Amino acid sequence: MITLENVSRHYGSGPKAVAAVHDVSLTIAAGSFVTVVGASGSGKTSLLNLMGALHRPSTGRVLIEGVDVGLLSEDARSALRRTRIGFVFQFFNLLPTLTAAENVALPARLAGDSRAPTLRRAEQLLEQVGLAARSSHRPDELSGGEMQRVAIARALMMDPPILLADEPTGNLDSATGASILELLRGAVQAHRTVVLITHDASIARRGTRIVTMADGRLVRDELAASVPPSATAR
Ligand SMILES: Nc1ncnc2c1ncn2[C@@H]1O[C@H](COP(=O)(O)OP(=O)(O)OP(=O)(O)O)[C@@H](O)[C@H]1O
Ligand SMILES: [Mg+2]
Repeated sequence: MITLENVSRHYGSGPKAVAAVHDVSLTIAAGSFVTVVGASGSGKTSLLNLMGALHRPSTGRVLIEGVDVGLLSEDARSALRRTRIGFVFQFFNLLPTLTAAENVALPARLAGDSRAPTLRRAEQLLEQVGLAARSSHRPDELSGGEMQRVAIARALMMDPPILLADEPTGNLDSATGASILELLRGAVQAHRTVVLITHDASIARRGTRIVTMADGRLVRDELAASVPPSATAR
């Protein structure tokens, strides 16, 4: 589903150059639930941006569903992102002037779909994440956990096979974070491929596979079932 072959991503040049991701090779099978852990600055977000075709690798290849992202034009990459990948972020990234339903519908509206059917689908997605009663609320009328559920509904709007989440529970209390995790697990059960970055070791263990980054390198790659709770505790 997603393959990285000797991928590096550099920022800047000369003495300011940073190898945010260094020589990472990784294959993520369709339908798997991979969690990514590692210290701040270890390259987790950079890795996710490569997996999601937001960035091109500096060296190496990134294949998404067999397509070499590095060979695509800017337009083709954004089309790939829009249709094949759903993104969820730590700070939700909802538009403050739109209602919950309009935020959820936005990806389809941007793709040119007409308003009524996209709003109907948005309402259905909001119902799936338990927010049917909040569809006409604006983000500032929602709690953090509700905003993140809206963001997940939006990420599912285009029915993408891949869901990439960067610390989606980072701003939520643990009970609310657990409900977000359940939604992501539901996406896996619906045969999506999910990659989740988290600082929380107990959340990381809920995936099927834990990838650990350190200084831009992939330093550990293990099945969650093989990791005792104490091993990832901080
Ligand atoms: N746009 C950029 N320009 C220059 N350096 C960058 C840029 N983005 C990230 N970096 C650097 O790349 C390294 C990896 O950053 P990245 O954001 O991927 O880390 P992270 O593991 O997601 O950290 P955190 O847990 O704090 O979110 C860091 O040293 C960071 O300073
Ligand atoms: Mg990050």
